[in-house]
Amino acid sequence: MMAHEVVVHTKITRGPSTRSVCIGIDDGMISAIEKNLDGDRVFHFDDFLAIPGGVDIHTHMRDPGMTDKEDFFTGTKSAAFGGTTTILDMPNTKPPVTNLLAIREKLDLVKSKANIDFGLFGQLGDIDDIPGLARFAIGFKLYMSDTTGAQAITKSLEHLLNSDHLAGKVVTVHAEDPRMFEGKDNSNLHRHNQVRSIKAEFMALKRILSIETPVKLNLAHLTTLESADLARANKSTYEVTPHHLLLHDASKIGTFGKVNPPLRKRSLMNRLFDDLATGRAIIASDHAPHTLEEKEVDFENAPSGLPGVETRVPLMMALAKKGILKHSAVQDMCCTLPAELFNLRKGKIEVGYDADLAFFDLDNMVEIDSEKLHSKCGWTPFEGHDAIFPAGVMLRGKMIVRGGELAIEKTGEFLK
Ligand code: DOR
Ligand code: ZN
Repeated sequence: MMAHEVVVHTKITRGPSTRSVCIGIDDGMISAIEKNLDGDRVFHFDDFLAIPGGVDIHTHMRDPGMTDKEDFFTGTKSAAFGGTTTILDMPNTKPPVTNLLAIREKLDLVKSKANIDFGLFGQLGDIDDIPGLARFAIGFKLYMSDTTGAQAITKSLEHLLNSDHLAGKVVTVHAEDPRMFEGKDNSNLHRHNQVRSIKAEFMALKRILSIETPVKLNLAHLTTLESADLARANKSTYEVTPHHLLLHDASKIGTFGKVNPPLRKRSLMNRLFDDLATGRAIIASDHAPHTLEEKEVDFENAPSGLPGVETRVPLMMALAKKGILKHSAVQDMCCTLPAELFNLRKGKIEVGYDADLAFFDLDNMVEIDSEKLHSKCGWTPFEGHDAIFPAGVMLRGKMIVRGGELAIEKTGEFLK
């Protein structure tokens, strides 16, 4: 038997069952999965569960322009420690990624800082900028309303979404209809939810889904079961965030829970779990860090957004451990479905896929502690929540996280 470059002894889930396997890796890709394999290098994670490296299709790493909140090095490091090996970064950086020059400059700046693989979104604005953006962007972002750091689109949506250069591409939509926002007294999480209401979300979704377009519409951060039902009825993909599943408008976290779209009522939050049973949701973090200083002001003046790239998979692994979600569903929602949407050779433990793996000791459930996280922002809205962090993380066959350390830095590659 020919030896593989790397062999990992571990456990994987297949449907409801878990079994012990050897994963053979050559050229950074999974080349065999067998009971026994020989390897030139052998890693032992025999009693750990391996899942595909997480794919987070919605992050704001703040580079360039807002590196006091996060930068590409710290953001991708934070992702790696949470078992995520691929991120797709949003375009509301400074300057915003609205044209060829901006995406080129962003790529030049961030590529040497990337600890995991990454793709970049372009922001839809002027139709003439789409062909240039399309050369490098993995997908496009469309803002239907203003939100922290981004302005709503003012052009005709119909016209833009029928640009020839967008056909077949993913357009991720931030769906909130600003005409439905009610009042301005934005004094606490409860009021924030009333102002940017579930109706404003639902009406924006109806509007965007009524447009005939050859693009693949992906609906970001849906907060209710009704929104998800609508997405599924229209055969659109959609994202659900951990914060909309685990935090609500009466959570005692003040400005640290201020986010757009807002945290909803506890009863609605609980019903969002019913959607996960359909197996269609993509769990994406919408990692949007702001500094402590920026958040420690009165509610009205605090920016919206919260970090989550490092806690996304660990929170879901804890829910699986408790029997609230199935392990196979967690892997589908955090890894496989998001990779499929963007045609990435990632998100599955199968021959021919990138050897991106995260290894979990399922008995090692901990309470999230912001001091132990790696984002530059230094806080988390999930303080004290149960989570299972990976003991090791592999990117294309290389152990990038091991023994609580970033073992290999800056090996991330650009995906387009
Ligand atoms: O709360 C939010 N913060 N929502 C967004 O859409 C943008 C994000 C940010 O970039 O801070
Ligand atoms: Zn976002």
